[in-house]
Amino acid sequence: MKITSSLVTPNQSQSDAIIVGAYSDEKFNSALQEADQLLNGQISKLHKSNDFKANASEVLTLFTNEGKRVVLIGLGKKDKCQLGTLQSATTKAIKALVSTPAKSVSNYMTALDFKNSDNETACKIIVIAASHAAYRYETTKNFKKDNKHSLDSMDIYSSQDISQAAAIAEGVRTTRELGNLPPNICNPEYLADKAKSISKQYDNCSLNVLDHKEMNKMKMGSLMAVARGSRNNPKMIVLNYKGAAKSQKPHILVGKGITFDTGGISLKPGANMDEMKYDMCGAATVIGTFVAVAEMQLPINLIVIVPAVENMPDGDAYRPGDVVTSYSGKTIEVLNTDAEGRMILCDALTYAQEFEPQVLIDLATLTGACVVALGHNASAVMSKKTQLPQDILAAGIDIHDRGWPLPLWDDYQKQIDTSFADMQNVGGFAGGSITAGCFLSRFCEDVNWAHIDIAGTAWNNKKEGATGRPVAMMAQYLINESNK
Ligand code: BES
Ligand code: MN
Ligand code: ZN
Repeated sequence: MKITSSLVTPNQSQSDAIIVGAYSDEKFNSALQEADQLLNGQISKLHKSNDFKANASEVLTLFTNEGKRVVLIGLGKKDKCQLGTLQSATTKAIKALVSTPAKSVSNYMTALDFKNSDNETACKIIVIAASHAAYRYETTKNFKKDNKHSLDSMDIYSSQDISQAAAIAEGVRTTRELGNLPPNICNPEYLADKAKSISKQYDNCSLNVLDHKEMNKMKMGSLMAVARGSRNNPKMIVLNYKGAAKSQKPHILVGKGITFDTGGISLKPGANMDEMKYDMCGAATVIGTFVAVAEMQLPINLIVIVPAVENMPDGDAYRPGDVVTSYSGKTIEVLNTDAEGRMILCDALTYAQEFEPQVLIDLATLTGACVVALGHNASAVMSKKTQLPQDILAAGIDIHDRGWPLPLWDDYQKQIDTSFADMQNVGGFAGGSITAGCFLSRFCEDVNWAHIDIAGTAWNNKKEGATGRPVAMMAQYLINESNK
């Protein structure tokens, strides 16, 4: 969806539809009054008769005499209206339009007076939520003519520059599209091709892709162990963005790119195994964040690294009991081939440190235990540092794409000790997300590193599919960093 901002009033709007917001306990704002006039006082009547109370996410579509749609959206009590309220209200309002023939909309929710946030943030949240609600996966579907998606532009009532929000929305869209693609299309090579086309879109971007031969030569024994079971060769994708002087050390994001996770020899049960196409959502998130940063042309240096691998059972697949030597030289006893994410991430994280990052963050759909711990609302943020995770969590609050901390205390480390190697790749039932983080921490000892488990937030098994989370959190984090 193309998004612009202007101060065109409802009277002047040329759009096929307008959205106006209302609080349940406040009198009409200027846009609402104008819309009421366009509707010959219908809104006032509906409000008086209590047919429209403006409770949070209450939605009603009306028609003017000229055939313009007016979507009334409730935001509940002014005091209680939070960023989350705005987000869901925006979703409701846009969803009320996406299946209509309306092509363009003017959004006047920003004419409201916000009590719990500044106008700039509210506007950003509305832009990102609107783009999110207008997205529909279409790539592998045939739509009938009358069901063609038509809402393709939104003008938001604001004097602000909304280019940052639009850039984040574009990053989110990229991430969702990659996440939703089926695993027979979105394999390691596809991700590398996608990275290539993105790097070509911007002058100050470049790409390097390591293939399986190079990774074998470099002795990335942990990643290559996972890759062995698949006919699709692995790739290590390195996207480089230069927005600042060479002397400025890069921020590096590493994203788990398991394009399909069968579990390998430790085969997963059949039910819902299809959802493991989303096991590359870490990769999709860092690529989407890269797009957002390149769109914004932030004054930072950013490197995005994606180990892209498929985890399959095969006559040549790695087995439980195998001991492999990682790129770092540390040895790993494989006790479960389904704990493959950490096996590819450890080599990618070791490799990342060769670029001397000032900050190193990995994002991964790493553990089912994370869904148990935090559900679908918060990404799990783990780090042995104090400032870095705080900065990440703060950015998540800023943009309402939130995380929550889990500890990485040394007390948990003994769960991955073994007699047969430097460590084992699983830590047992207790604290499964934490012991996965502990495993990664052994490869990130001298670096400003954080790990984000997005198993609960990256997708949902409802129709929505990939959510594009936490691109907004990461993009906002990097915006905040660039303002330091
Ligand atoms: N990709 C999965 C994690 C996952 C599972 C995310 C379900 C979301 C929903 C990961 O590779 C995995 O299989 N992890 C195992 C680890 C275990 C073997 C220690 C898990 O969580 O069961
Ligand atoms: Mn797995
Ligand atoms: Zn996995």
